[in-house]
Amino acid sequence: MDEFHREGGVLHCEGAPLPDIAASVGTPTYVYSYAAIENAYLELVDAFAGLDFMVCFAVKANSNLAVLRSLASMGAGADIVSGGELYRAVRAGFDPKKIVFAGVGKTEAEIVSGLGERILLFNVESASELENIERLANIHGKKARVALRVNPGVETGTHEHISTGHAESKFGVTVEEARGLARRIKGFKCVELIGVHQHIGSQISKLEPHVEAISRSSALVSELKERGHDIRFFNIGGGLGVPYDYENDGELPTPAQFVDAVRPSLEASGVKILCEMGRYIAARAGLLLTRVVYRKESGVKSYIVSDAAMNDLLRPSLYGAHHEVAAVAGTGGKVSDADLVGPVCESGDFIAKGRDLPDSAESDLLAVLDAGAYGFSMASNYNSRPRPAEVMVRNGNWAVVREREHYSDLVKGEVVPAFL
Ligand code: LLP
Repeated sequence: MDEFHREGGVLHCEGAPLPDIAASVGTPTYVYSYAAIENAYLELVDAFAGLDFMVCFAVKANSNLAVLRSLASMGAGADIVSGGELYRAVRAGFDPKKIVFAGVGKTEAEIVSGLGERILLFNVESASELENIERLANIHGKKARVALRVNPGVETGTHEHISTGHAESKFGVTVEEARGLARRIKGFKCVELIGVHQHIGSQISKLEPHVEAISRSSALVSELKERGHDIRFFNIGGGLGVPYDYENDGELPTPAQFVDAVRPSLEASGVKILCEMGRYIAARAGLLLTRVVYRKESGVKSYIVSDAAMNDLLRPSLYGAHHEVAAVAGTGGKVSDADLVGPVCESGDFIAKGRDLPDSAESDLLAVLDAGAYGFSMASNYNSRPRPAEVMVRNGNWAVVREREHYSDLVKGEVVPAFL
């Protein structure tokens, strides 16, 4: 990404030197490029040209208010999966008429909040949820707009934790069940069926699963319309992958290639297209800036111990995910078969394993790349570690968009009762 570039050998983000940010804010710190977010968003918008469409940002990928505000101002919608994400999306300035609400376990309180905010629609994932929405909308004197989330039954070839569209997934309903639910909705007073939704998984590196799934779901849109349902939206989900491993991932489908491959099915649906991209918009717009605490040689292995750990960036530990690691400055020397690990007391705590890593000395800065999606949003306080700071850079200017947590944040809300 051009937004992260070198000047005099030193890594910068949109003209801001990363060592300056580290010196002022400390490490570990997530650094986001506004321009990279904007460019990825506009690339998607361009890809859908000629169709009636809206790009919704999957808030779970990066829920920082500044990131959300940036996308809301660009005209994006929001894809949310919890009451907390609804709260953030509304605070960040998303028009509720551009918010879609997915998730298999929406609680009563979450449904009522969504109704209260008059969001565009709920992506319904089960008969029980549908009945709950009808009941709550009735009690509150509201009309609920829903899309049925279908599980088109395709294999995606992505990591099993993030594959959602196959037959044995907890998400969505089968096409047959969707037909049955659509029939039932006709008898409901407060639920209006206005869409079909699907999302088959994340970090999908091939076009075929999308093409197959979108064609099946598009057929359902047409069928429901023929049966007299006023379907106005076809939500095709998210899932476009990005190359994380620069040597081995090769070229991944671009938004233009993706939309062109599914365009016949999108056009055949004859309704407004929604997509819910998270990773494609945010992943490459962020890096995790970390400082080397120690170098350690043990047996045959070299370890670089950084001040960032699995609680700051969980993806490597949880999915075996690959993130490139770059020296912020330095000679470009490498140490082979090295692990970049954090201070957390688990062997599963690593950022990179068995890799050729920058041959960095204690107190050197490293950048863990492509960490803008599912980075901070999956961070935790494990080992009582305050979560990192977040910084946004725009055209040479930068600002802290989330303070580093303090120790007092770690015990916020905790109470030692009187009987102790
Ligand atoms: N829509 C729905 C209903 C979803 O469940 C997701 C992601 C998205 C859209 C956005 O997918 P994307 O465009 O970002 O691929 N933590 C994992 C990823 C989990 C994705 C969950 N659902 C990771 O770090 O790889």
